[in-house]
Amino acid sequence: MTDVIIEKKGHTALMTLNRPSSLNALCEEFMSSVSGALDEVLNDSDIYTLIITGSGKAFISGADIKEMYGKNSREIFDWSSLGSGLNMKIETMEIPVIAAINGYAFGGGLELAMACDIRIASENAVMGLPETGLGVICGAGGTQRLPRLIGESAARELIFTASSIDAGRALSLGLVSHVVPGERLLEKAFSIAGEIEKNGQLAVRAAKKAVNAARNTKIEDGCLLERRLFSALFDTEDQKTGMGAFIAGKKNVVFKNR
Ligand code: HXC
Repeated sequence: MTDVIIEKKGHTALMTLNRPSSLNALCEEFMSSVSGALDEVLNDSDIYTLIITGSGKAFISGADIKEMYGKNSREIFDWSSLGSGLNMKIETMEIPVIAAINGYAFGGGLELAMACDIRIASENAVMGLPETGLGVICGAGGTQRLPRLIGESAARELIFTASSIDAGRALSLGLVSHVVPGERLLEKAFSIAGEIEKNGQLAVRAAKKAVNAARNTKIEDGCLLERRLFSALFDTEDQKTGMGAFIAGKKNVVFKNR
């Protein structure tokens, strides 16, 4: 059985995590498969957007507790850098990544979803960072990304209480941007991907870089980076196409992404 399935539909890649026997728990071998699949997507210039989802009833149930259990601090530091590296790879990929959260997203699973650009959830999704209930804390960016996404107070509450939230609560906190019935989850993800793909892809990628910088940069530096990226786009054919179409009153712009 293939544990990570990649299907291409137009310019969108759908990555399905497929280890239902452990509810897609992230063991070392599985993380390495996901990382390899991300490389495959990265190396395909024809892919404009990536959707990540899970098969069965889980998106990802978390890092593999059975694999982590016997490790000491030195071993788990190296092990956790796999998860952390995976999430960094997703966050810094040039193309937008959409997490389609189809069920349980706990611990390392929610951490991976938080490294994606956009999160949508099915009505039955359940999310949380249960680590403090296991006697540990997040190891793949959860304490860093959750406060940035939903604010400190709500993030501290979720992390300290280790409580689970349903999709409706995740929506109200801004952790996900849409909640839809399970059978419509991928349709919604592909529809968002389609909206992204009709725009200039050089611009979309520059926008991702600029928004990423907003997480870690002083406002002055972020605005300078934004202005540099904005200016660089004026040397592209896409800028002449997009703005030229407006001036000529044309709809349905087709960008060549150059
Ligand atoms: C290892 C797991 C697992 C996990 C599920 N399984 N989650 N194995 N690590 N995180 C296994 C179960 O042991 C079981 O195996 C099978 O998957 C099905 O799970 P069940 O528990 O029987 O399913 P269900 O009753 O539906 O409950 C689903 C669940 C529960 C609520 C998601 O499995 C659960 O609470 N899982 C742990 C969630 C969690 O604490 N995640 C955070 C991990 S710490 P068998 O062999 O019995 O069939 C973490 C730290 C991140 O993520 C650090 C990053 C570096």
